[in-house]
Formats: sequence, C-alpha cells, structure tokens
Amino acid sequence: MGVTNFFNIFNQELAIDLGTANTLIIQDGKIVVDEPSIVAINRKSGETIAVGTKAMQMHEKTHEDIKTVRPLKDGVIADFQAAESLIAGLINMIERKRKFFTHLKIVICIPSGITEVEKRAVFDSADHVDSKETYLIHEPMAAALGIGLDVEEPVGNMIIDIGGGTTEIAVIALSGIVCDQSIRIAGNEFNVDIMNYIKREHNILIGERTAEQIKINVGSALQNLENPPPDYAVNGRDLMTGIPKQVKISHKEVAHAIDKSVAKIEEAVLKALEVTPPELSSDIYKTGLYLTGGGALLKGLDKRIAQKTKLPVHVAEDPLTAVVRGTGIALKNTHKFSFLIDRKSI
Ligand SMILES: Nc1ncnc2c1ncn2[C@@H]1O[C@H](COP(=O)(O)OP(=O)(O)O)[C@@H](O)[C@H]1O
Ligand SMILES: [Mg+2]
Repeated sequence: MGVTNFFNIFNQELAIDLGTANTLIIQDGKIVVDEPSIVAINRKSGETIAVGTKAMQMHEKTHEDIKTVRPLKDGVIADFQAAESLIAGLINMIERKRKFFTHLKIVICIPSGITEVEKRAVFDSADHVDSKETYLIHEPMAAALGIGLDVEEPVGNMIIDIGGGTTEIAVIALSGIVCDQSIRIAGNEFNVDIMNYIKREHNILIGERTAEQIKINVGSALQNLENPPPDYAVNGRDLMTGIPKQVKISHKEVAHAIDKSVAKIEEAVLKALEVTPPELSSDIYKTGLYLTGGGALLKGLDKRIAQKTKLPVHVAEDPLTAVVRGTGIALKNTHKFSFLIDRKSI
C-alpha cells in the first residue's frame, strides 16, 4: 500500500462494467467511456475494425467482408476474442497516461453466471492491456454498491438488474450473494417483441435500432400510465403494397407487445422471493426491491412489479450507470471488500 500511495501519480485505476448491451469505464471517479458492447471485425483478416459506437453504426449495415459481434450474450462471454478486443479498444479510447504510469489496476464487473474459464479469459484480457492488479466483481454486488446499499450489513436486499441480455435477480447480505436468478429476458427481448408486433399489426419491417427507439420513447409496462408519452412516429415500407408509410405507435401498443416478457420478469421476481431465506425475506419486506440496469427505465415497470409483489419498489438513480459506479466504489476498496475475485481465487 505504501508504495502504491507514494507512486500515486504513476498509477492508473479503472473500473469497468462489461455489460451485454453497454460497457462503461470510470477513471478518477468520472465516467470516461460509455459505449455499446459491440465489435466490428474484418471477416477475411480477423482484424478488429471498430469497437463501441463506431462498430454499432456498422451494425445491420455490414457487407460480406465485415461482421459485427456482441462479445457478451445472455450473461455469458459468447466470443472471447471479441471481448478482449472490446476491452482493449475501449481502454485505448481513454486519454493515455501510458508513458507515465507504471501500475495499472482494474476492477471489472462480470455477469454472475460466468464460468471459471470465462473468468480466466477476462483476467487474461486484462493482462493483455498490461493490468498489474486485476479484480473481478459480480454484477449484483456492483449494482448494490452503486445503488448506495451497505452490502456488508447483515440485512438482506433484493436487486433486480434488467440489462440487455439478462435480468439478474439477487439477494445480497453480509458481503455475499445469497440467492441469484438469471433469466434471458431483458431489453433485447423487448426489442424483439416490438419488431414482431410492428410487423404483425402494421405490416412494417423495422430493425433493432428502431425498435429500441420505440421502446425508449413509448415503451411501457402498463396500459395506463400517469404521464403517458406522445405517440411515436415510425416510418417504414408496407410489406403488402411496397409503398412507404408512417404509423404512430402508442405506449398502449408497446405495453401489449412486451406484456408476456414483462410477465416473465415478474414471475422470476416472485420465484426469487419464494426461495429467499425467511430472515432475509422479512428484511426485504421492509426495504423493498431495487430496480437497476437500463430496463429499469421502462415506464410503469416499477409500479407493475410493486402491484404484483405488494412490496415497495425503488428505481436506482441513473440505472444505466449504477453498476459501473458500484464497480468504482469497489476499486477504491479492494483492500477491504472480501467479495472481490482475484486471479488466485479461481
Ligand atoms: N429509457 C429506456 N427504457 C427502456 N429500456 C431502456 C431505456 N434506456 C435503455 N434501455 C435498455 O436497457 C438495456 C441496456 O441496459 P444496461 O444496463 O446497459 O445493460 P447491460 O448491463 O446488459 O449492458 C438495453 O436493452 C436498452 O434498450
Ligand atoms: Mg449491466
């Protein structure tokens, strides 16, 4: 520790949230990277052409020679090589202090479902960007820290993290994850529901990104919202006539389109409550449920889960950044938090 403090100026410390949809990096307490988790690759040479937003712009517009890859899928690392390119590419975006720093320390947040092999791959990726000290943290733990909960207390808290690929429901107490459930229904699934609905009901084909815009603008978990958003105009080509047309989509339609997926999340929450040990259940009864991840921004979702569970539901402040902020807190407490994973422990 003494040495580390003495050479502080030569240190660089990064907290990374490696999400299925977005990867965020905190440096010196500030979010310096917030990019989609996607990599564009040259099929012939295997070379990485772009990462993050630049790669996203190529998505759905690629040709034979270029493909886009999402390294994380359904809460696991689907493509190790791409995951490493993503981490390296995004770290390279940060203003380089490289010629000055001697010691790079990283805490990386990983989905709690990943295997030992996948953990090792993440450690290897960190080695390849010259990290000298690397720790991993499980996502629900990072989320809880980011929400501002005291995870070391003997009090149970339930976190529902709705990301791109998965919804993770975890109960945390005494610095540990007591129960953890993961389902493959989250933001991406809502987009698929919306694409199918628009095709079925309006005869228009839309892409993933348009579906995402519909969800952000008029997405809703409830038919009746207190402050309903204005309808959202979608342009497309009629599949029957071939003529371009515009349709206005209302939040009620989206609520209908995604209803089954939202119901699956509700079921998973009920299931998680069922398997929670009784002492912790009584804590959760008092403290309620915490919603985080981008999916927590879906209008009416908090109310719908509150109605279903009859428990208070809190939406994390800035749910898209809670996990990386929590990872940033872990970065400052690596000496203290027993739940961090280092290379020796796997
Ligand atoms: N306003 C919004 N309403 C509903 N969903 C949203 C909103 N903003 C972002 N999302 C969704 O949140 C998901 C990304 O959340 P995030 O927590 O970054 O995921 P991950 O941790 O898997 O990378 C995406 O599916 C995105 O469409
Ligand atoms: Mg996440």
